[in-house]
Amino acid sequence: MNELGNLKIAVFGQGKMGLPLASVFAEYGINVIGVDINQMVVDNLNNGINHITEEPGLSELVSKNVETKKYTATTDGVSAATDADIMVILVPTLIDDRGNIKLDPVYSVSEIISKGLKKGNIVITEATMPPGTTEKLIPILEKSGLKLGEFGLAHAPERTMTGTALRDIKGQYPKIIGCNDENTYQIVSKLYNLINKKGTIQMSSIKAAETVKVFEGVYRDVNIGLSNEMALWCEEHEINALEVFEAANTQPFCHFHTPGAGVGGHCIPVYPWFVINTSNEVNPRITKTARELNDYMAHHIVELTIKGLNELKKCLNGSNVLVLGLTFRGGVKEFMKSAAIPIINELNSFGANVYSYDPLCDESDFERFNSKLKTDFNGIDAIIVTSDHEEFKYLDFEKISKEVSTKLIVDGRNIINISNATENGFRVIKVGNLK
Ligand SMILES: NC(=O)c1ccc[n+]([C@@H]2O[C@H](COP(=O)([O-])OP(=O)(O)OC[C@H]3O[C@@H](n4cnc5c(N)ncnc54)[C@H](O)[C@@H]3O)[C@@H](O)[C@H]2O)c1
Repeated sequence: MNELGNLKIAVFGQGKMGLPLASVFAEYGINVIGVDINQMVVDNLNNGINHITEEPGLSELVSKNVETKKYTATTDGVSAATDADIMVILVPTLIDDRGNIKLDPVYSVSEIISKGLKKGNIVITEATMPPGTTEKLIPILEKSGLKLGEFGLAHAPERTMTGTALRDIKGQYPKIIGCNDENTYQIVSKLYNLINKKGTIQMSSIKAAETVKVFEGVYRDVNIGLSNEMALWCEEHEINALEVFEAANTQPFCHFHTPGAGVGGHCIPVYPWFVINTSNEVNPRITKTARELNDYMAHHIVELTIKGLNELKKCLNGSNVLVLGLTFRGGVKEFMKSAAIPIINELNSFGANVYSYDPLCDESDFERFNSKLKTDFNGIDAIIVTSDHEEFKYLDFEKISKEVSTKLIVDGRNIINISNATENGFRVIKVGNLK
């Protein structure tokens, strides 16, 4: 038994983040109830079947935790809240196409928790939310008849990403914690110290803890935006941006990221909106501009393709274009704000014949995103790399050069071995390097 005794935790949301967290708690001997609205997910989990397959080690952990009876799953959130001492909210927090924040799942889970909340319980939000959101849950949770103080409230952001969640949860970074009072912090920090070897950082308020995670995302988006802007400048001046970034980054105050086709996923392109849409007096110019620039990069990739085809005396209209990668990043089957989507749509609007390939996708995905699956390079006039899947880093250009109609590659992720491609007669255009 762990030092937290017979503590029971309910984790609401058994997706890419919630399931790894619930599984790690159970691994460390805590009794865990995983709550999800998806009946199929819950049924599979109760049979020891993991649905987040891109997470190394998670399948083994899920089946082990079900076997040891440390983990069960349910769709009945009220009974889970009634049974549990600590409730963790880890459901999606999204934005619509105009950046409007959608927090409905967080509010609806809070309503459910209020129906089972008891004196001495603690509610922890781990989902990333606009600063101030956790405290907005107080009136909902107080529908239980309890006042804040009779139950504890905390924010402890999930600082991880799909593919490395188990490693990160167990101690890649310290756990940030903000609580409503010291007593709550003592319990919550004990909980996370049990599973996280890097320990905890106590923030002076819940809102400050929420801000940490949001700012981490904003920093990345703005840094990528800056790198993209400098890459565009390098293109204009016929300089290789990557060469410059690499040299500049040897100085400790310089941290240029890799420029590319855009910023995707549920996190980095979303969190800047949590700042932009909650600013009343400040105009967050840099944050907005970076967002706009990063979204613009997909269009730039199409422009680079037109430029490359023109050089080779071809026109985009009627050309066969192969887009390599539908997912927003390598190794993860997630399409949210993937650069491939606007790129494919724009190529179609210019009359190109658009094909695509992605090792993680099935036929329905290619149709859904308005392209045709192609598993070879026959007759292709332009190859565009949009995801950094491992297999795209090692393309056999000698073989490919014999299949394509036109030898053009537009590398939107800066992963192609340029010398190998050029040796085989390809014109290679990279974001930030047109030479
Ligand atoms: N995916 C990441 O890499 C990542 C990293 C850090 C933080 N986050 C944050 O973690 C949170 C969760 O993201 P995710 O990637 O795990 O999402 P996800 O879409 O993978 O999973 C969410 C799960 O919640 C379930 N759900 C939805 N509404 C529910 C409800 N009302 N009650 C119970 N379950 C419900 C869904 O069925 C789904 O299984 C978000 O705030 C996200 O921003 C995600």
